[in-house]
Amino acid sequence: MSFEEGKFQEVLSEFAATPEFIREVAANFRQDLQIGLRDPKSSSMRMLKSYVGLPTGNEKGEFLALDFGGTNVRVLRIKLEGEGRYEVTKRVGEPLVLEGKYDYIGKDSTVDQMFGFLARLIDEAIDGDHSTRFYLGHTFSFPSSQDDLNNARLIIWTKEFATPGVEGEVVNDLLLTALKKRGIENVVPVAVINDTVAVLLSAAYKQSDVYTGSIYATGHNTCYLEGSIHDPKGFGRGGMILNLECGNFMKLTPNRFDTELDQKSEKPGEQRFEKMVSGRYMGELFSMAVAELLGEKFNFTAIDMSGIVADESPQLTKAAKILAEKVGRELELADVARIRELAAAIIVRSARLVTASYVGIVWQRAGNGEIQKQHVAVDGSVYEKMPLVKENINRALSELLGEDAAKVDTILDNGGSGLGAAIAAAMAVQ
Ligand code: BGC
Repeated sequence: MSFEEGKFQEVLSEFAATPEFIREVAANFRQDLQIGLRDPKSSSMRMLKSYVGLPTGNEKGEFLALDFGGTNVRVLRIKLEGEGRYEVTKRVGEPLVLEGKYDYIGKDSTVDQMFGFLARLIDEAIDGDHSTRFYLGHTFSFPSSQDDLNNARLIIWTKEFATPGVEGEVVNDLLLTALKKRGIENVVPVAVINDTVAVLLSAAYKQSDVYTGSIYATGHNTCYLEGSIHDPKGFGRGGMILNLECGNFMKLTPNRFDTELDQKSEKPGEQRFEKMVSGRYMGELFSMAVAELLGEKFNFTAIDMSGIVADESPQLTKAAKILAEKVGRELELADVARIRELAAAIIVRSARLVTASYVGIVWQRAGNGEIQKQHVAVDGSVYEKMPLVKENINRALSELLGEDAAKVDTILDNGGSGLGAAIAAAMAVQ
């Protein structure tokens, strides 16, 4: 039996992101940013200083890059060759959770386990060489307060990380302790940056006209170059990059699914914007909405949504298969089509909201003047792989910017988290 059309339309309408709505979000985003520039405490965004501006593109040397902040930890050795060129000479990586084997991010994990794991990967990346000196750049992708480029204190875990004993601590101190325990004293951390900052550094190393870096993946966040901030402890050119922590942006109206998801999450009240747009939560929103139609809840992931939406065949065979596997029975074609429409609406809302935030930044950077030609550098699986995302970003850019949309685009900066860490390390030691 197929589900009721009225109910379906009601659930679907919860995820509408009309042109008026996203225009309002973009304007509120800009306003919250301006408030935050005057006083970060009054903004819903954390607006964290990074103590780094843009690179010249001529940074050189071999550096270690630790990329810690998603489901996988990576350690790379990267040779920067200047003129935007580089070579990855070694790459190791492992997941932080292996079902049934270990879990370094859950409530029952410990600091020693988590940082011991990082130290082991670093040891592997340096091939057990405990004498050559290696400078390390650390991309640590959680809200952290800094008062220079090398020290970052974790404010709060996000993305459902829950390891006790890290919040409030200086992460590189924890790392140094773990390295020492393994007998590694030749690895010298010199820079800690957020992954958004890493993406911006990485993109700006390779090309001009990039002032904004963003992650659109498990988590979501954006940073931009603020020309009005200069600090004697900062490195690089053009001012200072501000890590907005806009996953915490709250000046928009959530729907009832957003509210319920937030209530059930690890940190209710936090990261409201991220919970509406990022890959970590999209599947849950979809599961909740589908549950209202089917009368029973099944756990869908963002990957399931991607598979369902990607199916454009007349019989929706693949979409039907994904659904049947989860639900345990075949659904009518009309219902498969409706559920697919719902998945699409959640993805499209996400892309339109994220674009509104980019436009808020573009407006802020332009001030009262003209919008400059620019690329917004983005990394992350949702941006890279989720169907409907790129075209809806472009559509929303046109809606919001009109003719000026010709001056602004988004570009993929794949792997920027690692490269950016190496660039930050180079900037710190040169
Ligand atoms: C974190 C940010 C990070 C983003 C993307 C968010 O949950 O708070 O610091 O940039 O995820 O990884």
